[in-house]
Amino acid sequence: TRTAILISGRGSNMAALLAAARDPAYPAEIALVLSNRADAAGLARAAEAGVPTAVVESRGFRGDRAGFEAAVQGVLAAHGIALIALAGFMRVLTPGFVEHWAGRLVNIHPSLLPSFPGLDTHERAIAAGLRLHGCTVHLVSAGVDEGPILAQAAVPVLPDDTAASLAARVLEQEHRIYPAALAWLAAGRVRVAAGRAVVEGIPP
Ligand code: GRF
Repeated sequence: TRTAILISGRGSNMAALLAAARDPAYPAEIALVLSNRADAAGLARAAEAGVPTAVVESRGFRGDRAGFEAAVQGVLAAHGIALIALAGFMRVLTPGFVEHWAGRLVNIHPSLLPSFPGLDTHERAIAAGLRLHGCTVHLVSAGVDEGPILAQAAVPVLPDDTAASLAARVLEQEHRIYPAALAWLAAGRVRVAAGRAVVEGIPP
């Protein structure tokens, strides 16, 4: 399945997906890495790995989200993309875009959703005194950080954690569960019933 990874920054999740997709048996082919920022460090990593890259500068569209997304759709179409993985892509997508890609658009979020949608999840988990925190891979529906959950991983919050130390612990798990969940989706093993995702062969 020809897959695009959308990034805005560092691209460590992108790198984890690229590494998994090097296995010829992996069901998703990473055919494009697209960034909304020309200075995203992940672009260079993708190019080094020999993956086609594209930049659609969201800044250039000055709040014209429909115009930005039309440009993105054009690039995706030109590359024959059938599946999208958001990996640190810092733009909220319009309901029209999300609807167009329903069931073929997946995101990773650094919290155990539905706790802590949005930004600064690690700070908020520490401030709430949580003992457990983690990450979620989910299909994208119209709300921010909402949609049927494909995979989650939990990590402990330790007494002297900072946001940075906790983020690093969570990130290790992101790099583990994202390639797995994308593979399920690309292999057609995911269906959604009553708002919940069911993965063939994986107990809920
Ligand atoms: C990750 O924590 C991801 O869950 C969040 O943004 C961060 C992106 O990191 N959405 P990277 O660019 O994949 O390294």
